[in-house]
Amino acid sequence: MTPTILDVGGLRAWYGSAQALFGVDLDVSSGEIVGLLGRNGAGKSTTFKAIMGLDAQVSGTVTFDGADISGLPTERIARLGIAWVPPDRRIFPGLSVRENLMLAARAARTPLDLDRLIDAVPLLERLVDREGFQLSGGEQQAVAIARALAGTPRLLLLDEPTEGLAPLVVQQLEASIAALPEKFGVSVLLAEQNLQLVLRLSSRVFVLDGGRLGHEGSADDFAASPELQHRHLSVASAAEGS
Ligand SMILES: Nc1ncnc2c1ncn2[C@@H]1O[C@H](COP(=O)(O)OP(=O)(O)OP(=O)(O)O)[C@@H](O)[C@H]1O
Ligand SMILES: [Mg+2]
Repeated sequence: MTPTILDVGGLRAWYGSAQALFGVDLDVSSGEIVGLLGRNGAGKSTTFKAIMGLDAQVSGTVTFDGADISGLPTERIARLGIAWVPPDRRIFPGLSVRENLMLAARAARTPLDLDRLIDAVPLLERLVDREGFQLSGGEQQAVAIARALAGTPRLLLLDEPTEGLAPLVVQQLEASIAALPEKFGVSVLLAEQNLQLVLRLSSRVFVLDGGRLGHEGSADDFAASPELQHRHLSVASAAEGS
């Protein structure tokens, strides 16, 4: 049996007095790509931030590689091997791509292995000497993923990596993400609005609905059920109120 790398239990989160998560359970196996789905505002980003110990007030348990990391400071969690790639990418605009990557490796106290990063994210190859501000959205995303990998994490939390990107670059990123477990030994939790992409990449999906787990199961079963997709993802069904 594949060991579990991430196990989240009863995760609740609040922004001030507003509760955003109401007891979310999910898990990721070692070497697995798992999809995290849900409409806008369903709680995907909050789940990531709660796992990383950022922002919101949180209760519940987060176990990473067998160790309880609930309540640890974000920096410790990162150093233990979880890397979060936020949707806004946050590349330093005034630094070159190489410098962006070096900073990440240094923060993780590991040497920068550029060849290995280029192997994992081929888009990176022609970007290494560009300045951060010169990058297109897709290029920023490629660099953001590479920068996360530069810290040699074992789990990557990807928050809407393809949002707003052109189809060609989405294809290239998809191929990179698909190969990450094998090439880089990382597991991936992937939040996305692009359902088809998630279904192609993931073995299982967790679907958030209003801060709760609306559905969990194999990607194949979710792909085969328009009814489930409609119930948990379509904007119209939210308005219908069933
Ligand atoms: N910084 C914040 N302060 C207050 N409320 C927030 C904050 N961030 C998120 N929320 C609220 O928490 C809930 C969950 O939001 P979250 O950003 O986690 O959803 P999401 O699934 O990532 O949505 P999207 O697909 O739009 O990125 C929403 O009701 C949102 O309005
Ligand atoms: Mg989000």
